[in-house]
Amino acid sequence: MDKLIIHGGQRLEGTVRISGAKNAALALIPAALLAPGKNLITNTPKIKDVKTMSRLLEAMGAHCMFEGENLLIDSSGVNSFEAPYEHVKQMRASINVLGPLLARFGEARVSLPGGCAFGPRPVDLHLKGFEKLGAEITIENGYIHAVAKELKGNRIHFDISSVGATENVLTAAVKAKGTTIMTNAAMEPEVTALAEMLVKMGAKIDGIGTTTLTIEGVDELHPVEFANIPDRIEAATFLIAAAMSRGDVMLENVYPGHLDAVIAKMEEAGVQLDIQENRIRVKMDGIPNPTDITTAVYPGFPTDVQAQWIAFMLCTNGASKITDTIYHTRFHHVPELQRLGAHIEMAENSAIVFGGHPLTGATVMSSDLRASASLLISALIAEGRSEVLRVYHIDRGYEEIEKKFSQLGAKIERVKTEEF
Ligand code: UD1
Repeated sequence: MDKLIIHGGQRLEGTVRISGAKNAALALIPAALLAPGKNLITNTPKIKDVKTMSRLLEAMGAHCMFEGENLLIDSSGVNSFEAPYEHVKQMRASINVLGPLLARFGEARVSLPGGCAFGPRPVDLHLKGFEKLGAEITIENGYIHAVAKELKGNRIHFDISSVGATENVLTAAVKAKGTTIMTNAAMEPEVTALAEMLVKMGAKIDGIGTTTLTIEGVDELHPVEFANIPDRIEAATFLIAAAMSRGDVMLENVYPGHLDAVIAKMEEAGVQLDIQENRIRVKMDGIPNPTDITTAVYPGFPTDVQAQWIAFMLCTNGASKITDTIYHTRFHHVPELQRLGAHIEMAENSAIVFGGHPLTGATVMSSDLRASASLLISALIAEGRSEVLRVYHIDRGYEEIEKKFSQLGAKIERVKTEEF
């Protein structure tokens, strides 16, 4: 088990390259199952979740291999339609293989993902979508068993906008007979990236980037090379960390258009941003303004940046309200931030953050991926020494995080520990 030791108080300066998007990669990799042969996904981050997804595909007979930043997936040898518990329990996004397996084999057995650190996360919308396409779904021994002799296009309306359900059902609909119209589909950039990869493979999809996707099923899809998008959540984490340290940092390999909601709020908070085509320079001189946020589906403020925003608001001199409408209980970072000296009160699904109380180093524990990011960036500005335990949560989604922050001037090192 690793932990990070941080000596806070350094101003972040320099250039950082943002990696490929974790959440997009976790949709693009399973899509390779649809097209037997060699698929290449460029700009793939070398993070734990990508490794977990690769291992899952390998357990089904695929070969996955990194060539630099590119992931080669040879899906020709896939001969199993089962995603076992030992893989799915490590990562909920494993459920994303269900759609491609159903489309390829007419059958899939995928372990039910359990709960997660920030509350119940059902998969009912995924299953309803597959049923609309003609699949018979049964749940037995903790597994979802889906069978469809022939998938048939249909109208599918999602009660709630769901990134995972949209992606999963889309990857089955592309091979269903006839037309599928998905309404209230998620339009997150990661969904758009998946749809674009599927079109490159030969799928027929209209309305990409909107909440209505119209899919004309095709019989065959062919392997492709596809460029993954940059990680907008990693980018937001570095933007916020740089502003918290009153630094001056250039982010490279970003799509500013994917970050509009975060950029608007940072500007409201008084951060200087110089936005270029694939780069953003972030500079902060004074004390940020308290700035409320409410998370929402894209293009709203992402729930995956809620924890980091709470950390940022600790640097203000006033009160701000951070509300999460997507995951109402996603606030495990709050008691840990309080260990660093944060003044935060909870009111249902909102955190009221009171700035103006300097943070001091402490030992804190990661509980989930973005919670750990918020602890880390807070430790970077806390006075003195902090330890962030259970770094494996950070490693799920951030590539070489301590190296990237060290290059910007942070004092941070990774050490092995027996502590859990
Ligand atoms: C994805 C992201 C995650 C992000 C989330 C919301 C990946 C791998 N993960 O997760 O980082 O925080 O989007 O932007 O891409 N819901 C249901 N039934 C379902 C599915 C979802 O009720 O069948 C609910 C969820 O509990 C949640 C909301 O819908 O309240 C949105 O969840 P969803 O968009 O599905 O999140 P994920 O795809 O799991």
